[in-house]
Amino acid sequence: MKLSVIGCGYLGAVHAASMAELGHEVTGIDVDPERIASLATGVAPFHEPGFNDLLAANQQRLSFSTDMSAAHGCRVHFLAVGTPQSPDGSVDMTYVNQAVSDLLPYLKPGDLVVGKSTVPVGTAERLLQMVAPTGAHLMWNPEFLREGFAVEDTLAPDRLVYGVTDDEAGIKDTALLDEVYAAILAKNTPRLVMNFATAELVKVAANSFLATKISFINAMAEIADATGANVTQLADAIGHDDRIGRRFLNAGIGFGGGCLPKDIRGFAARATELGVGDALSFLQDVDDINLRRRARVQDILVAELGELKGKKIAVWGLAFKPDSDDIRDSPALDIVESLARAGVHVTGSDPEATGPASRRIAAAGLSDSVTLAVDHLGAAQDADAIVVATEWKHFRTTDPVSVAGHVKNALVVDGRNCLDSDAWKDAGFVYRGMGRS
Ligand code: UDX
Repeated sequence: MKLSVIGCGYLGAVHAASMAELGHEVTGIDVDPERIASLATGVAPFHEPGFNDLLAANQQRLSFSTDMSAAHGCRVHFLAVGTPQSPDGSVDMTYVNQAVSDLLPYLKPGDLVVGKSTVPVGTAERLLQMVAPTGAHLMWNPEFLREGFAVEDTLAPDRLVYGVTDDEAGIKDTALLDEVYAAILAKNTPRLVMNFATAELVKVAANSFLATKISFINAMAEIADATGANVTQLADAIGHDDRIGRRFLNAGIGFGGGCLPKDIRGFAARATELGVGDALSFLQDVDDINLRRRARVQDILVAELGELKGKKIAVWGLAFKPDSDDIRDSPALDIVESLARAGVHVTGSDPEATGPASRRIAAAGLSDSVTLAVDHLGAAQDADAIVVATEWKHFRTTDPVSVAGHVKNALVVDGRNCLDSDAWKDAGFVYRGMGRS
């Protein structure tokens, strides 16, 4: 089938290539000419495991354009543009609204617009009214992909969610999207059909639950620090109860990225608009606990080193999570910036994110205080402390004995509780975890 994917960020670009992998002829459309030029030459504009191979394998069925007219003649149009956070915390719908307006002249009767972006509840109903005069129809199909696993999550999702209208058109839309996803459905992937509002809410409810789970364990880390308990052992013990589960119970410097932080804020803002703000007031606590984690690292450093001004501190990790070069709302990069503001000379290291990080550091006017490098051992040279801020595998598996010879002062702050604390202590380091010592 001929498909268009409007918006070629992490979500859209991976979705476009994955749909080509399923055998469809796909046109990816984005307003960013650099992004489109890169994708058109088969080069991923961001780091995502497996994505370059997917692009290369499907060049024949993939095309990319900055011109919305390229959507003309496609039967299904996926909407995958970004929904960033507005300054007041609500969701900025500019890109979604613009994309749908720009698409209208190219829609024809029988076309289906499939929303994938994370939007405030009520959006699908509004957009359906915009597209209806063209004879096209609309459904909502939220995406749950995780960065670092985007290809896997798109081609083998846990579940497919369809938000449809409760009429003949909704039945037809379901059948058409089933055709698009036939290869995925053939693998017995659960497919849940529901109304628009429910489908829109599934996405933000899932992300709010995950954020709450992380902040819950980080709250326990605060208690553990006050009592001498060990939050990792606590998580292991409660995680054995499968009603709770061990996943997303890793305490540390908290969640970041392009989704969880903005989605909980956007969801709370929408609930307030709907007059049910009290139902989500707990998300403010989730957010507050999360942001306190970033400050906790600096508190530990001050407790161990005293005055930080003039110290040299290596921060291992800049991306918001491993296997990604994404620095959006990255706790690691926030820590780099606040240390630099406190007069520290920071040597930051990350295997993939030094490029985007150095642009943000420059924009913040902190380039003089921050040196960025890929080599994490080099970054630790003569350091007064090492902070592990992103749990990349090669940080976790670094032999502490080999690091001990580089540093000036053997202090490691494990912001992700990902190191073997005994091995680091045996190598002569003072080890400070987050809710475990
Ligand atoms: C998230 C959702 O998982 C995904 O389903 C949704 O579609 C988009 O948002 P992503 O932002 O890629 O995906 O990252 P995720 O793996 O969920 O991690 C989010 C943040 O939480 C990261 O900063 C990570 O380091 C942190 N995290 C995760 C923890 O601090 N502790 C944990 O136990 C798990």
